[in-house]
Amino acid sequence: MTSSTTILPSLDIEKIRKEFPILHQQVNSRDLVYFDNAATSQKPLNVINALIGYYQGYNANIHRGIHTLAEKATKAYEETRHTAKTFINASSEQEIIFTRGVTESINLVASSYGKAFIQAGDEIIVSGLEHHSNIVPWQFIVEEKKAVLKVIPVTDEGELDIEAFKSLLTSKTKIVSVNHASNSLGTINPIKEIIKLAHQAGAVVLIDGAQAGAHLEIDVQDLNCDFYCLSSHKMYGPTGTGLLYGKKELLEKMPPYHGGGEMIKEVSFEKTTYNDLPYKFEAGTPNIGDVIAYKYAMDFILQLGRENIAAHEHDLLTYATERISNLKGIKRVGTAKNKVGVLSFTVDGIHHFDIGQMLDARGVAVRTGHHCTQPLMDRYGIEGTVRASFAVYNTKKEVDQLMEGLERVINFMK
Ligand SMILES: Cc1ncc(COP(=O)(O)O)c(C=O)c1O
Repeated sequence: MTSSTTILPSLDIEKIRKEFPILHQQVNSRDLVYFDNAATSQKPLNVINALIGYYQGYNANIHRGIHTLAEKATKAYEETRHTAKTFINASSEQEIIFTRGVTESINLVASSYGKAFIQAGDEIIVSGLEHHSNIVPWQFIVEEKKAVLKVIPVTDEGELDIEAFKSLLTSKTKIVSVNHASNSLGTINPIKEIIKLAHQAGAVVLIDGAQAGAHLEIDVQDLNCDFYCLSSHKMYGPTGTGLLYGKKELLEKMPPYHGGGEMIKEVSFEKTTYNDLPYKFEAGTPNIGDVIAYKYAMDFILQLGRENIAAHEHDLLTYATERISNLKGIKRVGTAKNKVGVLSFTVDGIHHFDIGQMLDARGVAVRTGHHCTQPLMDRYGIEGTVRASFAVYNTKKEVDQLMEGLERVINFMK
């Protein structure tokens, strides 16, 4: 957990909750408690209204049209790029490529950068904390190029073993790809140090920011990462969009990922030339409405302030951690010092699916299973965990409802 001592203005959580219509409902005759935010967060009214506004008011294809609706849609789409640049402090809008989300962003880099710059015998390093989407795309390229995949080990607490990482780095290391924060355990990784070490070895670094976007400050220039990936739907925005940040000089050297309209300058049967950044990597009609609404999600986070959000979620995590420690038979999985608001645990003798189902019967939505991190579950010798993950609209009262539900499940099953 982060140990911030700064006094921050506290957020008006009740006011924030009013912006999320979905939260105000009963599930199985109880007030809904939504603790599955690491899978996807709920959407505020400004995001929902932006989507409705686009489809009701100015739905049109972008970039090529000269009519009023097309120009309005293009302007709104490009405004999201401008906000995204500010959100992660990129140096140019040309470094922001819209994708379907983190999965597609990583596949884009693995495929394009991998095809161009990975040779037989080269090494790619990921960590034992990664989501499958930061493992499998690299396995594709490793297989195709006869390269080698290496893995940074994870400690019992759920932290990356940085000494072991240092010993994995060699002159053959070409790419290091790790997450900013772990979806299964919540661990915040020391990415600045990892990036520095990887650069010293001559490797480029991709950061999977899926679990950081809604919770942590992101400054790609300060981090000096080569690539950074975000998913809109985990940061109060719509599903089906997200972004890839890449340093301009790298993106310029990389071949296109998808071919088609928009990514070209000139096409003939003899030779095709490609568009400038970022359009070289945005083939076809993009997910216009969702990209437009994504801006409103980033604005929502920026207006609340990421420090304030982190402080509130840290409070919730501290409270939930204290409360769960008093329950019988609970084993927390992931006890790193620096965490986002993720509480993962197992309960002796009770399958995580049963816990999830019984909590749902009490209105509490948690996620159960391997959370798309099977190698990490193998590391702990477990099949899965129960995971409660917090967002800015969650409250201590909701944590109480989770704990009361858990207590009942444990007493009922014993
Ligand atoms: C750490 C991490 N990386 C990548 C992903 C994949 O994100 P998406 O499915 O939005 O592409 C997730 C989703 O859970 C995640 O938590």
